[in-house]
Amino acid sequence: MSDLSVIILAAGTGSRMKSKEPKVLQHLAGYALIQHVLKTVRQLDPDQTIVVHGHLGEKLQDQLRNYDITWVNQRERLGTGHAVLQALPYVKQSNKALILYGDVPLIGYDTLQHFVHVTRYDGIGLLTAKVDNPKGLGRIVRNKFNEIEYIVEQKDASEKEKQIKEVNTGIYCLPYHYMKKWLPQLGNQNVQGEYYLTDVVEMAKARQVDIRVAHPVDTFEIYGVNTRVELAQLERLYHRHQIEKIMLKGVTVADPSRVDIRGDAKVGQDSFIDINIVFKGTVIIGENCIIGPNCIIENAEIASGVEIKANTILEGSYVGSNATVGPYARVRPGCHVAENTAIGNFVEIKQSNIGEGSKVNHLAYIGNTEVGRQCNIGAGVITCNYDGANKLTTTIEDDVFVGTNSSLIAPVTLHKGSTIGAGSTITNDVTDKQLAIARAKQTNINGWQRPTKKNKN
Ligand code: UD1
Ligand code: CA
Repeated sequence: MSDLSVIILAAGTGSRMKSKEPKVLQHLAGYALIQHVLKTVRQLDPDQTIVVHGHLGEKLQDQLRNYDITWVNQRERLGTGHAVLQALPYVKQSNKALILYGDVPLIGYDTLQHFVHVTRYDGIGLLTAKVDNPKGLGRIVRNKFNEIEYIVEQKDASEKEKQIKEVNTGIYCLPYHYMKKWLPQLGNQNVQGEYYLTDVVEMAKARQVDIRVAHPVDTFEIYGVNTRVELAQLERLYHRHQIEKIMLKGVTVADPSRVDIRGDAKVGQDSFIDINIVFKGTVIIGENCIIGPNCIIENAEIASGVEIKANTILEGSYVGSNATVGPYARVRPGCHVAENTAIGNFVEIKQSNIGEGSKVNHLAYIGNTEVGRQCNIGAGVITCNYDGANKLTTTIEDDVFVGTNSSLIAPVTLHKGSTIGAGSTITNDVTDKQLAIARAKQTNINGWQRPTKKNKN
């Protein structure tokens, strides 16, 4: 939206978090609170994003350097109205400003998009919500025509006003020209002695300016975080919401309370997700997959019909259709595991391609390796890819059989159709269809007399 400026207030000290870090940098579902807001704001594509920070501003700027932000320092914390006033000189004069909070992380794109859309240039927008427990929040006071008159803070409210369940989310949409006129006029004659941004609502009403009211799609979007208890509660709500979206698209989840989505996960129809699963970053899973219990899947793409068996860790990799991985497999970043492959138990693979139909079924380490199609890598095979200084490549062409407990000392190539005898230490290339055996020859000695224990006396 080209006519939109976003102002994110983040000058709060967050003392109740009991942390040395700024509150808005506390993590929820793998991302800093303010990063959730910035990710949503990015979807709105505003003209400019302004963050009002307090005394730990350098830490914020350092951690959020990948975002295009105009930073404004609020030296004294004199209230929400004062905070927005500090940002005002940076706001483009033809724009509407959307006011958000760095500690209200889950505000949703759909809510904001609609909210900004309905707010007129010659009016203001106010996001309100009805809640069961309005304690601590500003109340929306309406007249007998149901028009908004003003907002009253909990601390300034009468007993009657405290009964009101419609609350101020603190999120507004305010055209620059009204902010320019009204913000300098805000007073601080209230219980907290602060310049309340809420008072612009009364100003708008007094001047018969149009006040558009919108509501969040989900109530949790407006929840702020003040303590680590609230942080954990909101984190659960977040995962619950994410996992419900996935279930409604046709995925069976054994227990929605035992799946964490720390990032974005897409899961295809008729897949099944077992318990104790953590998805991190961007995860894409195809249709008809089974994700077994206790798996961690991070920044990975899994095609359809794949089974990830119990206790598998998969990171930064691709798994092709109908493959099976695990149980107890570790797929480290940079792997491309083709379709119909099997990566078995206690197998670690790293920066390797495993070709179609190949099997690495037991206790192996495959690193910096190209494995062709239809290969069989036996139990206990190790690619020795590190000489103490450099990572070296192993190439295993199509239809190779590597016998159990072999060491492949890189750089080395096993050409098409070759066979490696069990227990071999392979240092030289093996050509097409050769058998290589590289182990000490067995010696059998007849009638061998075992040593006996000597008498101590
Ligand atoms: C504010 C609203 C209240 C609303 C509630 C929703 C006012 C006066 N009240 O109350 O109606 O129901 O939010 O959560 O606006 N901040 C600054 N600089 C300041 C003061 C605050 O950056 O000088 C930031 C804080 O970091 C925080 C946010 O603004 O993120 C809200 O401030 P806070 O003092 O917590 O306001 P509330 O009392 O929650
Ligand atoms: Ca608050």
